[in-house]
Amino acid sequence: MKDIIISPSILSADFANLEKEICLIKEAGAKWVHVDVMDGHFVPNITIGIPVVKSLRKVTDLILDTHLMIDNPEKYIESFAKAGSDILTFHFEACKDISHAKNIISFIKSFDKKAGISIKPTTKADEIFPILDKVDLVLVMTVEPGFGGQEFMHDCAMKIPIIKNNAPDNLIIQVDGGINNLTSKVCTSLGANSLVAGSYIFSNNDYKKAIQTLS
Ligand code: DX5
Ligand code: ZN
Repeated sequence: MKDIIISPSILSADFANLEKEICLIKEAGAKWVHVDVMDGHFVPNITIGIPVVKSLRKVTDLILDTHLMIDNPEKYIESFAKAGSDILTFHFEACKDISHAKNIISFIKSFDKKAGISIKPTTKADEIFPILDKVDLVLVMTVEPGFGGQEFMHDCAMKIPIIKNNAPDNLIIQVDGGINNLTSKVCTSLGANSLVAGSYIFSNNDYKKAIQTLS
């Protein structure tokens, strides 16, 4: 069985000690760190942005897995790429249509970065079929994006096998929202190979143990 990529979401970390938190999750075995960017428009919350990615890039070699929950993602992609994001995942719902999404994917790739597309709970899996061979990662949201600590929506996980059955073998299928030691198993048994977890990891006083219980 292939390894499951765990991407701890720093949304639930101690923002006053981000460098320390990132060192701790690295020591705990994480290879990726999930950076949730929210603009107060696409989602009803505001979090962090380009300067934070730039600062994190200086202190870590972990893969910066950047989840853009923003309107007009194309306006900010160059800045995030130059700040040091490794993966740029934007929302399908922030695009006008498929061709707009394709242009954004090409733009991300022009900076030699990995491109991801994310779908909210109400978006059907088949809407992104035409771009499954263009992206490196699909992010299936299992909560309404905007906040950490929400409850996993089981119905959304049923999109995982639909995507897997219609995607190239090397596609990373990531799940985000309400992931814990139980819901992680639901997702991996359905075909997910990357899990984002915020509150489950950072509310545990042993990050290593928490990460180990996810895969
Ligand atoms: C929610 C974010 C998530 C969030 C997950 O909009 O995209 O990455 O941090 O938090 P938990 O794991 O607590 O559901
Ligand atoms: Zn996220």
